[in-house]
Formats: sequence, structure tokens, C-alpha cells
Amino acid sequence: MTSEPLQHSPAHPVVSLRRVSKIYGEGTGRVAALDEVTVDIHRGGFTAIMGPSGSGKSTFMNVAAGLDDATSGEVMLAGSALTHLGDDARTTLRRREVGFIFQAFNLVPTLSAHENILLPFELAGRRIDIEQQSWIDHLIGTLGLADRIIHRPSELSGGQQQRVAIARALASRPAVIFADEPTGNLDSRSSREVLTLLRTAAREYGQTIAMISHDPVAASYADRILVIADGSLVGDHGALSPQQISDLLIGFEVGAA
Ligand SMILES: Nc1ncnc2c1ncn2[C@@H]1O[C@H](COP(=O)(O)OP(=O)(O)O)[C@@H](O)[C@H]1O
Ligand SMILES: [Mg+2]
Repeated sequence: MTSEPLQHSPAHPVVSLRRVSKIYGEGTGRVAALDEVTVDIHRGGFTAIMGPSGSGKSTFMNVAAGLDDATSGEVMLAGSALTHLGDDARTTLRRREVGFIFQAFNLVPTLSAHENILLPFELAGRRIDIEQQSWIDHLIGTLGLADRIIHRPSELSGGQQQRVAIARALASRPAVIFADEPTGNLDSRSSREVLTLLRTAAREYGQTIAMISHDPVAASYADRILVIADGSLVGDHGALSPQQISDLLIGFEVGAA
């Protein structure tokens, strides 16, 4: 398998899994959190990853984003084979190519909104040039954060905190943003705002986004819906309405646990 950088070619998927398994425990305690999953995620798409609680969604994200090792199979991220990278190289690749948005926002409480947005550059040791500065200013304006930018997370509403996390994820234009239940802690109005922003980022900026959710309304903002059950990929669909998604998930007990 080649480890040449392919990330600038639109023909290559941004994330590619080939027969990827993740096994926890042994013997009677053995759990296949991912069971031979093969899937490609292409540039500029907004993909929702759905499935019941415990189906393997977070494991999928952790393995695909290089936060965790697969037990077997091949994971390609932004043109690099993760399985062939050591820990340091994987961390460097992840800092350069992946953005994260979490349910619990995961902002640094002692930093201002602005400092939180700049943090990925600091961590990666990247200087911010004029072009990046104007992109970040654009994001801050578009996300409605201009008058909140010197505030700390505790001084912001949940919706504002998640918009800071979105700005942080978008700031470095990563190859892919993984969002794990990004609206899980938000009221429905803030949820709609956040989902609209994610969809806009994909459509207008070509930002690749993979969003884990168990909410059919959230997934209806995506242009592709993957369904995971018991660690296996059991569905791969285009855009669907919330009702269609609910119908699709009947039988997989989404939201039941
Ligand atoms: N660190 C771990 N150790 C043992 N089992 C785990 C671990 N992480 C997840 N699992 C198990 O793997 C399965 C998938 O978990 P997860 O990916 O968190 O599911 P989801 O995000 O869809 O709720 C579950 O059965 C879970 O209990
Ligand atoms: Mg999870």
C-alpha cells in the first residue's frame, strides 16, 4: 500500500476503510465494535453515520480519524495509510488533516473563544498567514461570533460554544471534520443553526464532514446516510427526509438504548 500523499486529488476518497475491524476484549467478553467495515468518504460530502447506541459509531470515528488503532484492515486518511504510521506520525497527520466537533463542545475553559479557534494552529506549530487570518475572520463573522470572541466558554450559550467549536474545526481547512453527536446538547433552534452551518460548510466550502448522529432530523441535513448496526455497515443512502430516515431505522432500534 502506498503512503504517498494523495490528499490533493479529488479522485481519491478522503477517508477509506477496507475490511476494518476493531475488537475489544477476548473470549466471552469479545466485542466486535467494528466488523469488516469497507467504505469510502469523498471530498466535499456531508455524511451522517447512524445506528443504535452501542452499534459502533464512535468506534468508527475513532478508527477512521486515527484516534484509535484498528485491530485489522486498512484505514486511509487524507492519502496516508494509518496502519503504517507510528503514533507520532499519526498524531501529526491527525492535527493537520482532521477537525473534531463533539457533543460536549470540548473547548478549553481558560481560553477565549478566539484562542480556542486558534488552538489547532498552536498545537500543530503552524503560523497563521494573512490568507488564513482572513478566512478565520470570515468564519467568525459568518458564525455570528464577532461580539463574543473575547469571551470564555462559560460565558457563552451552548449554541455559541458549538459555533466556536465549528469555527475551530473549519479554521485549518482539514481534509475531514468528524462530528460526534454535535447537536446532542443543544435545543432544537441551536441544533438547526449548527446543522445548517455544517451543511453550508460542505456545500459552499467543499468541506468534507462525517457526522455521527442517532437523530433522523440531524441526519436529514446530510447528503449521504450510512447505517451501522452491530459493528457492520448495513445501509448506504443518499439524502432522505427525517420520516424516510425514521422508517429506514425501524428494526435497528435507533434511539431505543
Ligand atoms: N474501550 C472499550 N472497551 C471495551 N468495549 C468497548 C470500548 N469502546 C466501545 N466498546 C464497545 O464497542 C461497541 C461499540 O461502541 P461505540 O462505538 O461506543 O458505539 P456507539 O458510539 O454506536 O454507541 C459497544 O458494544 C461498546 O460497549
Ligand atoms: Mg457513541
